[in-house]
Amino acid sequence: QSLRIGLIPADGIGKEVIPAAKAAILALGSDIPKPQFIDLSAGWETFTRTGVALPQETVDILRQDCDCALFGSVSSPSRKVVGYSSPIVALRKELDLYANIRPVVSVAPVVGEKPSVDLIVVRENTECLYVKQEVQTVGEHGKEARATRLITQRASQRIGQMAFELANSRPRKLLTIIHKSNVLSITDGLFRETVRSVPTLPEANGKYDQVTISEQLVDSAVYRLFREPEVFDVMVAPNLYGDILSDAAAALVGSLGLIPSINAGDSFVMGEPVHGSAPDIEGKGIANPIASIRSAALMLRHLGYTKGADRLDTAVDQVIREGKVLTPDLKGTSTTNEVLEAVLRIL
Ligand code: NAI
Ligand code: MG
Repeated sequence: QSLRIGLIPADGIGKEVIPAAKAAILALGSDIPKPQFIDLSAGWETFTRTGVALPQETVDILRQDCDCALFGSVSSPSRKVVGYSSPIVALRKELDLYANIRPVVSVAPVVGEKPSVDLIVVRENTECLYVKQEVQTVGEHGKEARATRLITQRASQRIGQMAFELANSRPRKLLTIIHKSNVLSITDGLFRETVRSVPTLPEANGKYDQVTISEQLVDSAVYRLFREPEVFDVMVAPNLYGDILSDAAAALVGSLGLIPSINAGDSFVMGEPVHGSAPDIEGKGIANPIASIRSAALMLRHLGYTKGADRLDTAVDQVIREGKVLTPDLKGTSTTNEVLEAVLRIL
C-alpha cells in the first residue's frame, strides 16, 4: 500500500517550499504508508505557457490517482487578464474542499510574537464573494461594478458542523462566529443563524452541548485579535472574512511563513501554506518552509496518520524553540534549505 500525494508547487516560493515539505514527508519512513509523489501543474506560469491556469489533467489526476495533495502558491495578477482565473479558488470548488482550516499557534518567543495564541480559523471555502460573479456596466455617472456575494444554508451548515466538531475536540470548546449581520443582515444573517442552529439539528443529537458559542462582528474581531488574541479558540467565518482574519492572525505569531492550512472536503484533503507566492523574496532561497511542512502535518493528521503528523510538528517546534536556524522573516539568517536540514536532522 502506498500514499499517493499530488504535488502542485505552482508559482514563486511555492516552488521552493513544497519540495521541503516533500523531503520532510519522506523522512517519516514507516510512520506513513510508502509515499508516492505525483507532480502536477497549475498557476500563472502554467497559464502563460499553455493558456490554462488549471489544466483538466491536474484535476483528473487528483480525483482519480491521488489520496491527498499539497499546493504551494499562485501568482495571480491584480488586474483582469482575459482567460485567467485563480487555480486555487477553482480547485477548492472542483474538489468540493469546503473547509479551510488554519491553526495559528505561538510555540516559542520569536520576534513579533504574542504569547498564548492558540486558535483555529475555520474559513468557508466555496462561496461568499469568491464565487467571482463580477460585472461592470456603464451607468448614468460612468462605470459601475458589481459582485455577487453568495451565502447558502447548505454551505453554512456544513462549515458550521466542521467548526463545532473542531471546537468540541479542543480543551476550551469555544466557538466564535464571525459575521457582519448588523449591516448585511440577509447574507451574513443566514450564515450566523445557520451556524448557530447546528447544535439543534437532529444529527447533532446533543454532541455539541459542551461547546460555548459566542459571536463577534468581523471588524471588532480583528481589533480583539490584536489586543487579546488568547481569548479566541475556534473562529468560523465566511470566505472573505476568514481569508483576511487568518493573514492577520499570522502576524500575531511572527510570520505568515509559519501558518499552515488544509482545504478539506468529505472525500479529499489538500494541504496549503496560508501565504502567497511572495514575489519580494522569490528565487532568493530564503522562504520559510515551516508553513508547508506544517501543512503536510495537518494533511497527514486529517488522514489519520497521527504519529507522522506529530513527528513533523514536534521537529518544527523544536527548530523554532532553539531559535538558531531561522529564515529572515523570523529575523534569522538561515536559508530554506538550512531550516529544512535542521528539521530533517531531528526527524
Ligand atoms: P504573500 O503571502 O505572498 O506575501 C506577504 C508577505 O509575507 C511578503 O512580504 C512575503 O515575503 C512574506 N512571506 C509570505 N510567505 C513567506 C514565507 N514562507 N517565508 C518568508 N516570508 C514570507 O502575499 P502577497 O504579497 O499579498 O501576494 C503575492 C502573490 O501571491 C499574489 O499574486 C497573490 O495573488 C498570491 N497569493 C496566492 C495565494 C495562494 O496561492 N493560495 C494566497 C495569497 C496570495
Ligand atoms: Mg489569503
